[in-house]
Amino acid sequence: MPPVSLDFDTKQLAEEYEKISVERQFRAGKRLIAELAVSRGESVLDVGAGTGLLAEYVASLVGPTGRVVGIDPLPLRIEIANRRSHSGLSFKVANANDLSEFRENEFDAAYMNAVFHWLPDKRIPLQQIFRVLKGGGRLAIMSGVKGNSNPLHGVRERVMKRPPYNRYQQALGPVAYRVTPDELRNFLIEAGFTIARLELRQREHPEGSPEAMIQFSEASSFGNFLGHLPVELREAARTDIKLELAKALPLQTVRQGIIAVAIKP
Ligand SMILES: C[S@@+](CC[C@H](N)C(=O)[O-])C[C@H]1O[C@@H](n2cnc3c(N)ncnc32)[C@H](O)[C@@H]1O
Repeated sequence: MPPVSLDFDTKQLAEEYEKISVERQFRAGKRLIAELAVSRGESVLDVGAGTGLLAEYVASLVGPTGRVVGIDPLPLRIEIANRRSHSGLSFKVANANDLSEFRENEFDAAYMNAVFHWLPDKRIPLQQIFRVLKGGGRLAIMSGVKGNSNPLHGVRERVMKRPPYNRYQQALGPVAYRVTPDELRNFLIEAGFTIARLELRQREHPEGSPEAMIQFSEASSFGNFLGHLPVELREAARTDIKLELAKALPLQTVRQGIIAVAIKP
């Protein structure tokens, strides 16, 4: 499996994500936040906040007496997030693997929306979140599920196995570290959480054009979709993937995701 890199993001991908995520991650995120049942005055941590759209929404829920902090390791995404000005809302460049800048028992709630499947290590981020949550604090996760990946990724993997792309070992294989519901349950329990809810959700994703699908994947993966290829091969790879996609149409549009809500006892 290629390592997920935090070095492939660009200004353009970050700006595209800000627009593209409105229809997918933001909508799914609002459903996740409904599970988290955030109330006014609460202090909430958004881990992997991206460009901050969902965090801004949560800031409107906690109101002026509440606080929302969004962290993300990608400075270009945090730059966009910082354009938002909402009382009690702030952003920082930080990684889920190290939340040491936050105090123990600092937050009432935390969430990771479309982030967990990007984390190579699941244990450390969960331990870190556990530490900064208050007793009784809630964590909500929406994650991609193993075995039900985007059909575009199957097409990408087939193309990457062909020359000249197959010279780049790191471009082979899936681009994220998805989990099964049982794996997620076990990670949460191991970190000390109790599980309030954990279920598979089906989602319909009517696909756009092949170009739009590739653009979505490049922006959402912060460049990992094709980032392991040399820059000069990426356009050719996009063209080859589009040709393969045209043969594979219509694509399966029902996707699954895992929703989990866990409590720090
Ligand atoms: C698909 S985006 C989701 C962004 C946002 N949560 C939303 O709902 O729009 C995935 C995000 O995970 C972030 N991410 C990747 N690795 C991370 C890590 N180790 N710690 C925190 N966030 C990470 C990425 O930088 C990216 O912004």
